[in-house]
Amino acid sequence: TSSLTSIDKQEKMMIFLLLLQAMSSPVFSAEWDAQVVMDLEALVTSCVVIPCTFTYPGGKIASSKLRGIWFLRNERNDTVFHEDKSEIAPNFRDRTKLMGRLGEGNCTLEMIEVKDHDRGPLCFQADIPGTGQFTFLKNCALLKMLYDPPKPTLAHQDTASQGEPYTITCSITHTCPSNMPTLTWSRSTGRIIEDHKNNGYGRWEMQSILTFIPEETDDHSKITCTAKFNGGGSSSADHTLLVQRKKNHRHIIVPTLVGIVIAVVFGAACILMMKKYNVWSRLSRMSRR
Ligand SMILES: *[C@@H]1O[C@H](CO)[C@@H](O)[C@H](O)[C@H]1NC(C)=O
Ligand SMILES: *[C@@H]1O[C@H](CO)[C@@H](O)[C@H](O)[C@H]1NC(C)=O
Repeated sequence: TSSLTSIDKQEKMMIFLLLLQAMSSPVFSAEWDAQVVMDLEALVTSCVVIPCTFTYPGGKIASSKLRGIWFLRNERNDTVFHEDKSEIAPNFRDRTKLMGRLGEGNCTLEMIEVKDHDRGPLCFQADIPGTGQFTFLKNCALLKMLYDPPKPTLAHQDTASQGEPYTITCSITHTCPSNMPTLTWSRSTGRIIEDHKNNGYGRWEMQSILTFIPEETDDHSKITCTAKFNGGGSSSADHTLLVQRKKNHRHIIVPTLVGIVIAVVFGAACILMMKKYNVWSRLSRMSRR
């Protein structure tokens, strides 16, 4: 009977733990809270996506029953995003969009045609009409403005070998995943693989990997990778290719062949001369007789 009661106890414990887990899950006991990426670079003229998540009290609510507002924390608290367009400050009108689903606690904001005075702090405010609203003033996004597009970085081996595949990688980091930059190469031949990585906290990385087989004529040629950003900015980086020639034996074969030819010609000439001499001597001997 003692083993039975212990099983009973274990079961009760399990049920208690399950209940505790259920009660602590976001759906049941979430408090108002928000996580906003607080510092992010933004390229002027391009776009920026500010990752934001939040939790709200009570059960899950449909996105349409929630209201999400972004505003600029300044003297006027300019509205940066509002579902009612007329509420948005003229400077931000038609430039902002809520990308995430509010019901899922996603308040990610996209801003296009970034201007140098969009620095922020940009703060989020959630509103459940009829229940309450919450303004998250502690974690607002502050943008670091980039006036010039950053340069791509190149990774490659020091030298290329003639006739063997050579790989060169071009990468660019950015904060505009909704209209990501494009990478192009100055070479028209070769195979290109593209990769887009999420480095977290709103940072993304675009990569283009070019593989080609260099020829002798590619030695000292320049390979350029150009990054074009949403909004028109561009930047580039280049690398001068050094091609190691294939080890061939031409430098030995050619002189040897020339030597052989000269020897043969010389030999043949000698034989001819000797034959001629013999004929002459025979003739002269005959004429003497
Ligand atoms: C701006 O918003 C903050 C937080 O909501 C508030 O404390 C402040 O009074 C507002 N300022 C103006 C001018 O509305
Ligand atoms: C929020 O929404 C954006 C846009 O749809 C998405 O890219 C992102 O992954 C979402 N974030 C989370 C935490 O689900």
